[in-house]
Amino acid sequence: MMFKGKTVLITGANRGIGRATTEAFAEEGAALLACARKQTPEFEADMAGLAKKYKVEITPVYFDLADEEAIKNAIKQIATDKKRIDVLVNNAGVPFGGLMTMTPIA
Ligand SMILES: NC(=O)c1ccc[n+]([C@@H]2O[C@H](COP(=O)([O-])OP(=O)(O)OC[C@H]3O[C@@H](n4cnc5c(N)ncnc54)[C@H](OP(=O)(O)O)[C@@H]3O)[C@@H](O)[C@H]2O)c1
Repeated sequence: MMFKGKTVLITGANRGIGRATTEAFAEEGAALLACARKQTPEFEADMAGLAKKYKVEITPVYFDLADEEAIKNAIKQIATDKKRIDVLVNNAGVPFGGLMTMTPIA
């Protein structure tokens, strides 16, 4: 229960490393803001299942990281809901070869 009382925001929570990280934090008692690009019944059910299994609060949040406006709106909503972010896991991404400084926002 290392993260009890802490809120963790994870992007790409629907699959792969992000999904595994979401479960690992839930197991440690964290409240989660589980971010995915698209709202699907499968993701909602999966997060509800994890919340029940580990007795933690998991709030699904939806935005496309390629859409700056959508990101801002999601963060504004989190702030409005008075949720504090203690840990940020910037997991979502796609493989891209090149220097970060040469990488366009898109
Ligand atoms: N696996 C490896 O060996 C490895 C090695 C080095 C780095 N990484 C990095 O580690 C992270 C996770 O890897 P993984 O293997 O778990 O990748 P993955 O299975 O391909 O999952 C990628 C995740 O990122 C999300 N995502 C991608 N673009 C997005 C966007 N524009 N907006 C919102 N979400 C977006 C995907 O959402 P959708 O389901 O909607 O597509 C998915 O949830 C990635 O950033 C990857 O580049 C992985």
